[in-house]
Amino acid sequence: MTQANRPPGGRPRRSCLAVPGSNPRFLEKAQGLPADQVFLDLEDACAPLAKEGARHHIVEALNEGDWTGKTRVVRVNDWTTHWTYRDVITVVEGAGTNLDCIMLPKVQDAQQIVALDLLLTQIEKTMGFEVGRIGIEAQIENAKGLVNVDEIAGASPRMETIVFGPADFMASINMKSLVVGEQPPGYGADAYHYILMRILMAARTYDLQAIDGPYLQIKNVDGYREVAGRAAALGFDGKWVLHPGQVEAANEVFSPSQEDYDHAELILDAYEWHTSEAGGAKGSAMLGDEMIDEASRKMALVVAGKGRAAGM
Ligand code: GLV
Ligand code: MG
Repeated sequence: MTQANRPPGGRPRRSCLAVPGSNPRFLEKAQGLPADQVFLDLEDACAPLAKEGARHHIVEALNEGDWTGKTRVVRVNDWTTHWTYRDVITVVEGAGTNLDCIMLPKVQDAQQIVALDLLLTQIEKTMGFEVGRIGIEAQIENAKGLVNVDEIAGASPRMETIVFGPADFMASINMKSLVVGEQPPGYGADAYHYILMRILMAARTYDLQAIDGPYLQIKNVDGYREVAGRAAALGFDGKWVLHPGQVEAANEVFSPSQEDYDHAELILDAYEWHTSEAGGAKGSAMLGDEMIDEASRKMALVVAGKGRAAGM
């Protein structure tokens, strides 16, 4: 399969907005919000009796809505349920040309990604769609998924992101907290550090994006900023948003500050000049009090790249 038509560096995903597929009013409203990505949900935001209807609401919203500028994703149910195959078939046959990725929750091993890849390929061939265009986002939500995260990340050329699912993850490992996204009381350090770094290393090994999951105290925007800021500092590309009030915060936290962006561009300009013949073809140079070299250029490129993508 070809790695068909995916933007280099990945699609923008600073803010990934969850929208229940069973609620046409929310499907409509989401189109007007400045989120980089929307994911229309058939899993935990849809009650079992509403799932069948939600598939059709989602197809209609994808085909008839205006999603300009947004990455369009549908979250299907996980492979341990009986809903997954019909979720994928209904949504992709019905709206496959207006859809960028399928998100698969509670992924436990590489076979689950391979199975989704095969199903997508059959639908694309049957429908005459470009084969391989639809990507996959894998949610890591339990210990088995985390232990197998490297093979999951490398399981298919369709893979675009690894997404941390803190709510299911906390439940699955018996973490003692009821507040999703917050630290469990009584530990005194960052209980998520290992999990986030593990996901980030797997993602970067296979050139995928790493996305942090939800923060459920939707009225506490400062709390959201703090948690999102931790993931952004590690190198994560974005975070879920469950409420319009979190969208701007995510877009800001996952973009560089103006000061950092300007400094990164300065490093790039200075390093280019010093390594040129006119600048003496030096391997390292001084920029004010700071020594810069090839590694500095690479670090600056990360910050400048994010800033340019954000239109700075
Ligand atoms: C998201 O799906 C989560 O479980 O946190
Ligand atoms: Mg979950």
